[in-house]
Amino acid sequence: MTEVITTLPAWQKIRKTFNVDHTIGFVPTMGNLHAGHQSLLQQSLSQNSLTVLSLFVNPTQFNDQQDLAKYPRTPEADIALAQSVGVDYVFCPRDTELYPDHYQFQVSESLISKQLEGASRPGHFTGMLTVVLKLLLLVKPTRAYFGEKDFQQLELVKNMVDALFVETEIIACPTVREASGLAMSSRNQHLNENERKLANIFAHGMLSYKTKEALEAYLQSHQISVDYVDIWQNRLLAAVRIGKIRLIDNVSL
Ligand code: PAJ
Repeated sequence: MTEVITTLPAWQKIRKTFNVDHTIGFVPTMGNLHAGHQSLLQQSLSQNSLTVLSLFVNPTQFNDQQDLAKYPRTPEADIALAQSVGVDYVFCPRDTELYPDHYQFQVSESLISKQLEGASRPGHFTGMLTVVLKLLLLVKPTRAYFGEKDFQQLELVKNMVDALFVETEIIACPTVREASGLAMSSRNQHLNENERKLANIFAHGMLSYKTKEALEAYLQSHQISVDYVDIWQNRLLAAVRIGKIRLIDNVSL
């Protein structure tokens, strides 16, 4: 049975009932779940005695307030998906509960967070790291699951956990793609028909080219606006703008 918890005190009370024999798998999300999130949940369910899913649209990681306002919120469908796969707890805290300090305390990283995504989205990774640390301290999981889709996020979380001696193992999960190759993302639903064609071309390029130059040339030949294409940690990473939508992807080389 899936239990939905909507307040912080209720969660803290439940957390105290877990005993040392439990292994706790944690999947932090901003909701609007799709098959990518589901794969993280399934990996957690297969490796732990209890699985906790969090649904929290974290305001501090949005550098664009319009992006925050239009972020899709679908709690009923998310809870139904959690129930269908057998998640034990769905934790949906309120903004004020996670930020009693009004964001006075922040976790900032000074190197990786300034590059690639960080260069285009100032403050994004500070907001992300801050909320992930808060959630890890509240859930105290044995393992936490993050998608390679957001590769820089995954690396930052791994490094933060090492640097701050957080006793949670960070598990990397492969990117789940649509049949066309397009990486699943909550943003895909905002694409119109023509934009979706371009998004599929972007995905095709990501999966076909192994150098920065070749991928850049391919994207330019399709008039796709490139934010960055780069090689980092033996991966090819890219961000593009299709209409008003910004898409990111990365592949291992
Ligand atoms: P969100 O975008 O909801 O993603 C939650 C998790 O699902 C992240 O670890 C992300 O990498 C993973 N994910 C998203 N799309 C995926 C795909 N196509 N294949 C595999 N995994 C995928 O990332 C966040 O939320 C937030 O930054 C969060 C970590 C919850 C902090 O607020």
